[in-house]
Amino acid sequence: MADPHDARLPIAVLVSGSGSNLQAIIDASSDPLYAAEIAVVISDRPDVFALRRAGDAGIPTAVVDWRSATDRASFSAAVCDVADAHGAGLLVLAGFMRILAPNAIARFPNRIVNTHPALLPAFPGAHAVPEAIAHGVKITGVTIHFVDEEVDHGPIILQVPVAVEDGDDEVTLQKRIQAVEHEVYPVVIDAFARGRLRVDGRSVTWKEML
Ligand code: GRF
Repeated sequence: MADPHDARLPIAVLVSGSGSNLQAIIDASSDPLYAAEIAVVISDRPDVFALRRAGDAGIPTAVVDWRSATDRASFSAAVCDVADAHGAGLLVLAGFMRILAPNAIARFPNRIVNTHPALLPAFPGAHAVPEAIAHGVKITGVTIHFVDEEVDHGPIILQVPVAVEDGDDEVTLQKRIQAVEHEVYPVVIDAFARGRLRVDGRSVTWKEML
């Protein structure tokens, strides 16, 4: 974050729960040098703490209720419509528990990012932390990646290892993993907003800023 950024990239942050990653992005974007600004927070359900965090920060919110959607494609289209209405140039999945349909990927190609609590391709899916413990791995971590049509599969932007300690349980390990996410996810979003991420097939390279 070297230069002042007067044209900040509007982003939509998609949530389903506590929103600790959302909070990290809110905190980072309070710096005027940050290159992205949260235009809207979209939840797939009402009454989640993430919506309260957004409201407290004065950020517009929207609920696209998963339960009233007829299918995944129409739900995904509705999410994209809200993001478009707020001018979002990037969708940031932050604990969003729904799989977006291919129509969303087509509307935001290489413009949807996700943070996953494991070193992909190990332990994809919703239970990455307990599965890593059950498997007995010594190293797990954080993967931030672009979203494609397959679950937890798109081009990898950044990976950070986290050691599994003796006696770790799901709660203790998740806490250390999330601490890393809170540090690096805002950095990746800032890099995207500055046009630093170049995608070539599955390969993502970071351009240096002069
Ligand atoms: C994060 O740890 C992320 O890896 C996973 O869901 C969790 C969301 O946590 N996809 P929060 O809602 O940001 O607190």
